Amino acid sequence: MCGIVGYIGHREAYPIVIKGLHRLEYRGYDSAGIALFDGKELNLCKTKGKVADLEAKFNGTTSKAGNVGIGHTRWATHGVPNDVNSHPHYSNSGNLVIIHNGIIENYSSLKKELIKRGYTFQSDTDTEVLVNLIEDVMINEDVKLGKAVQIALNQTIGAYAITVFDKRKQNELVVARLGSPLAIGIGENEFFIASDASPFIEFTNNAIYLEDGEMAVVRLGKEIKVRKIHDDTLVDPYVQELQLNLEQIEKGGYDHFMLKEIYEQPSAITDTYRGRMLVDEGIIRMAGVDDNIERIAKAKRILIVACGTSWHAGLVAEYIFEDLARIPVEVEYASEFRYRNPVIYENDVVIAISQSGETADTMAAIKLAKEKGAFVFGVCNVVGSSISRETHAGAYTHAGPEIGVASTKAFTTQITVLTLMALKLAKYRGTISDSDFRHHLQQLEAIPAKIAKVLETTNEHIKEIAFKYKDVSNCLYLGRGYNFPVALEGALKLKEISYIHAEGYPAAEMKHGPIALIDEQMPVVVIATKMGHYDKVVSNIQEIKSRKGKIIGIVTEGDTEVKELADYVIEVPDTIESLTPLLTTIPMQLLSYHIAVMLDKNVDQPRNLAKSVTVE
Ligand code: F6R
Repeated sequence: MCGIVGYIGHREAYPIVIKGLHRLEYRGYDSAGIALFDGKELNLCKTKGKVADLEAKFNGTTSKAGNVGIGHTRWATHGVPNDVNSHPHYSNSGNLVIIHNGIIENYSSLKKELIKRGYTFQSDTDTEVLVNLIEDVMINEDVKLGKAVQIALNQTIGAYAITVFDKRKQNELVVARLGSPLAIGIGENEFFIASDASPFIEFTNNAIYLEDGEMAVVRLGKEIKVRKIHDDTLVDPYVQELQLNLEQIEKGGYDHFMLKEIYEQPSAITDTYRGRMLVDEGIIRMAGVDDNIERIAKAKRILIVACGTSWHAGLVAEYIFEDLARIPVEVEYASEFRYRNPVIYENDVVIAISQSGETADTMAAIKLAKEKGAFVFGVCNVVGSSISRETHAGAYTHAGPEIGVASTKAFTTQITVLTLMALKLAKYRGTISDSDFRHHLQQLEAIPAKIAKVLETTNEHIKEIAFKYKDVSNCLYLGRGYNFPVALEGALKLKEISYIHAEGYPAAEMKHGPIALIDEQMPVVVIATKMGHYDKVVSNIQEIKSRKGKIIGIVTEGDTEVKELADYVIEVPDTIESLTPLLTTIPMQLLSYHIAVMLDKNVDQPRNLAKSVTVE
């Protein structure tokens, strides 16, 4: 969950590393640090706080010279966020310096052993233990850095993406990964190391993504040699051509990445279905599904595993798959699934949903499902991510980079991919008529324009609503059917960026408990679109009204009934029921965004969170 960056080559390392850390700050932002080698000395500067704080601290205190540099932005696991626990960490001799993303679980027993051998520790981190273990191996076994890293890693339990530099070997960096991502950008006699490709995109389009359990010695003037850490076998590395561009990862005039990403949803959804959905021909083409159609369509059951917002997309998919394709679906938190000895049959299909493609719990759930013989299909956004490589087949969401920690366009594009998949299976299984199938395609094709309209027509009104309710302590979100998961997602968005407590509930469940919370202080966001149990939701609104709750209704354009009862309504265009989540989600994203901005919260990097949760 931390971000790592490294550079070795002919350019000044500092500007590359600092800019890279800014781009990776979404991965963790409670402290940051950089070590630079100027040909003689290692100069290190690190601090609690953000990358901007690091820049400020560097100025005037630490030399920025050097063509070798490694940097880190941290999301604390072991040891509170403070200057000392920040990375990089030196070994006791001061010769080695390391950056690490992950957790060394057996660090405490390793540390005891090292202390017995005379090592001392400045920080509380597992990482400082690892760098000293590497040093100890170098000394005791008289081996070079690469070998020492390998031997040391074979003594560890846990997860890591590391970069190690030895100031006596100024031409090389040693990198390794297990469970945390690591990419090596390859330039003209220069190399870039990073947790994802964004720090080096303007320098090179060629990258090697290390696989789990691999390490490499990256040496100037030499080809990169990749090896398996556990048995030293050489691996032929695959050099991937990157598709990212710089514009995609910059804010493009918006105040925050989150707002940019909310506004990108019309184009992101178009990118998701482009080339896959041929409306005039009445065809859906999805390579990952087409190539495995027998296996997927004959599944007795679909299990969906995911976390957070991706889990909410999975819940929407449950309704779509069961409704259209008539395949039973179960949706599970990956973190529960992996540890509860689940019953998995060989003819089950497991769908793993993950924006980052790096979430540790989802990854573990996939491995478990594969062990039990299930076919695993991945829905990921990040191309080349660990989950996309671990699954048997999959479909990318093509949402483009999502930098804001609160997920927005990932959610709606995941629903889009899953809708296409459900429609395709429904057609294959004969559970949808040709005309209904075509109608769905036409309606899906119209969604981006409808989202654009919601963005254009509701934003100012939502700002007013945000202003009115920004100081509340609690908020309830209600929806039914397809929009129950949207209520959960709306509540999650508000919680994570504004720190206001919020709960999502199926509207009808309200009377089984949460209704006790309702009084004149309590805003209740109710999704009451014309489709799907409208009358029942209106009755729920009456129940809130009679207890003096404040009602914010999300309704279909032209609605009159809810308007009479609600304090505010936000209108979305009409569509078929299964696609309403793609529209009703948008006002909720905007409401959370504006409340968080008005409360002066850090919208893109909320406290305690990280974009990519690579620890369990
Ligand atoms: C919420 C959010 C998280 C993620 C969750 C899963 O806005 O971003 O809840 O959805 O951590 O992440 P991925 O989809 O990358 O597996």
